[in-house]
Amino acid sequence: MSLSSSTSAMKPGMRLRLASFAAAVSFGVAAPAFAADIAAGARLANERCAACHGKDGNTPVDPSYPRLSGQHEDYLVHALKAYRNDSRKNAIMGAQAKTLSPADIENVSAYYARQPGMMTHDR
Ligand code: HEC
Repeated sequence: MSLSSSTSAMKPGMRLRLASFAAAVSFGVAAPAFAADIAAGARLANERCAACHGKDGNTPVDPSYPRLSGQHEDYLVHALKAYRNDSRKNAIMGAQAKTLSPADIENVSAYYARQPGMMTHDR
């Protein structure tokens, strides 16, 4: 087999791989539902959560209300799902969490996790 014939034999396969790579990239762009929407999370936080947890998620109206900013994203998701299915029982947060969709939970958790918290910068 000469070098030139093996090169031309590879071309269709390379084109196929490039095509499927391009398809994978555009699929990623076309499916943003799996990525948290931080802006939507921020809106939800300001409208629904700030009243108790503070405008910055860090100045709760009552010392018994937890700070959310800078908390781990997966912890926040876990806590909200637990309130929603009553495996973590709290009258206030149970009622709050039951109005949140799974996307709301992802978005608001992603938002709070990205805000500066007590543990995330100089003390
Ligand atoms: C009416 C007041 C109130 C509102 C509104 C409210 N929360 Fe809460 N939240 C609380 C209280 C009180 C607790 C502590 C409950 C407990 O002891 O489990 C809490 C706890 C939490 C926790 C658990 C934190 C931890 O450290 O375990 C998360 C997460 C949370 N809230 C998220 C939210 C989000 C997101 C919103 C907006 C959709 C929201 N809360 C709206 C009062 C409120």
